Amino acid sequence: KRPAGAPDKSLARKITKVGVVGAGLMAGQLALLFARRLDVPVVLNDLDQESLDKGVSYVHGEVDKLLGKGRINQDKANHLKALVTGSLSKDAFADADFVIEAVFEKMEIKQKVFSEVEAVVSSDAILATNTSSLSVTEMASKLKHPERVVGFHFFNPVAVLPLLEIVRGEKTDDTALATAFTAAKKLKKTAVLCKDAPAFVVNRLLTLFMGEVLGAVSEGTEPEVADRAVAPLGLPMSPLMLLQLVGPAVALHVSETLNAAFPERFAVSPELDKIVEAGKNEIFASDLSIDPEVKELLSGG
Ligand code: 3HC
Repeated sequence: KRPAGAPDKSLARKITKVGVVGAGLMAGQLALLFARRLDVPVVLNDLDQESLDKGVSYVHGEVDKLLGKGRINQDKANHLKALVTGSLSKDAFADADFVIEAVFEKMEIKQKVFSEVEAVVSSDAILATNTSSLSVTEMASKLKHPERVVGFHFFNPVAVLPLLEIVRGEKTDDTALATAFTAAKKLKKTAVLCKDAPAFVVNRLLTLFMGEVLGAVSEGTEPEVADRAVAPLGLPMSPLMLLQLVGPAVALHVSETLNAAFPERFAVSPELDKIVEAGKNEIFASDLSIDPEVKELLSGG
């Protein structure tokens, strides 16, 4: 059955090679997923060799884990490792038909990246963005072919979570959208079509959960208690664990985007602001109690 809003699949472009801009954690997870499920070469691209090497090593490490669990055999592991390569130059995308960006969440950076990619790919290659909250329409607006841009937003950990938000920008055409839905199916993801609106759908809810738990803590509820109080709602992970997983900087960015769009509905959490300002990436200590410094920040210290 065709997912709601998906154009006819006969419009989809065949994907024979994938480019991934960025080589951070999200990019590495995407590279592995594309290689494993589409069985096509995947090129990671980043600005410096160290980041690139880290990205490729991450993929190789995850392939070894799959091998260790018996999910794939040695031949498949070797094959997957060979499929994923790194390049400092976007020229390596010249024959890619699907390029996805997973770089820093800043509109100007993403627009620049897309312009650079457009300069090397064919005129009908699809450009996808894994943005968490930014406007797909605005990201495409500087391009010669904005109709090829589509939002393709995954959730962390990419290998495990089934959801994929597909976002149609104002100019996105049916070919880009059909290609995105067809790719989603091959990637074994559950794709939902979202309007190009700030933070789409899921991150609006996650932002509220995280902000409200932080607020309760700052009002005096013990952090561990506040965090675990929501467990009966059936969330697979408590809000503060989730905050650690997505990273406070990314969460703050989503919260700021939502605040700018809907100031009356979304405040920027002052507690989250403090955590990011203090450069804290980890909310929990190794024994899974809240890090004492974070506790102090949240209690107004
Ligand atoms: N990468 C790859 N695989 C991972 C992983 C990771 N980072 N973390 C966990 N896994 C795998 C494990 O290897 C295990 O696989 P197996 O069954 O093959 O052995 C499987 O997931 C289950 O892991 P665990 O048994 O260790 O632990 P749990 O059952 O507690 O599951 C979890 C862990 C999958 C992370 C689960 O807690 C969960 O789903 N949490 C919610 C995460 C979530 O809500 N993410 C959304 C974040 S928002 C976002 O990404 C959007 C962005 O725009 C901000």
